[in-house]
Amino acid sequence: MDYKKHITIVEDWPQEGIRFKDITTLMQNGPAYKKAIMELTAYAKKQQADVIVGPEARGFVVGCPIATELELGFVPVRKKGKLPREVIECDYGLEYGKDCLTIHKDSIQPGQRVVITDDLLATGGTIEATTKLVEQLGGEVVGLAFLIELAYIDGRKKLEQYDIFSLTTYE
Ligand code: PRP
Repeated sequence: MDYKKHITIVEDWPQEGIRFKDITTLMQNGPAYKKAIMELTAYAKKQQADVIVGPEARGFVVGCPIATELELGFVPVRKKGKLPREVIECDYGLEYGKDCLTIHKDSIQPGQRVVITDDLLATGGTIEATTKLVEQLGGEVVGLAFLIELAYIDGRKKLEQYDIFSLTTYE
C-alpha cells in the first residue's frame, strides 16, 4: 500500500521550516489504518515479541492494536509525572532542551523479548531513551517498528544495533 497517500504533510508546523507528517488522516481511513497495523503486527510476530512497548502519545496508536492482535501485553512509556506507580526514568534530548520518559518498574520481566513501536523515527532520541528503559529492566529489544522513517534526519545511526522496520520512508 502507498501509505504516503494517506499521510498529510503540513507545511511550517509546529514551526516554520518543518514539514509535519500528520498520521491522523491515515488513522481516519479504516482500511489503511488496519493494513498498516497488520503489516507491523506481522513484523512483531516475526521478531517473536513477548511484549509491545510504545512511547506516548502516538506510540500508543501504533502499539496497542499490534499488542491486541497478537494477544500480547502493551507497556506504555510516558513523560515524567504521568505513571501512578514506581517508575524508572531516562532523560533525553529534544531539539530545544530536554525531557524525561518513564516506565513502570514492574512492567517488563528480565529476558522478555520486546518490540518497541512509534509513529515516527526522526532523531531517534525518543526511541533511544525507550530502549534504555526497557534494557534497564532486563528486557531484550528485538525490534523497532515505525509507520514513518525520516531518512534525511538519520535516527537509524543512533539505533544501529537494533533491527528497524518502517512502513514508509521520506528521503
Ligand atoms: C514525536 C513522535 C515520536 C518522536 C519522534 O512525539 O510521535 O515519538 O516525536 O522524534 P525523535 O525520533 O526525534 O525522538 P512527541 O514527542 O511529539 O510526542 P507526542 O506523540 O505525544 O505528540
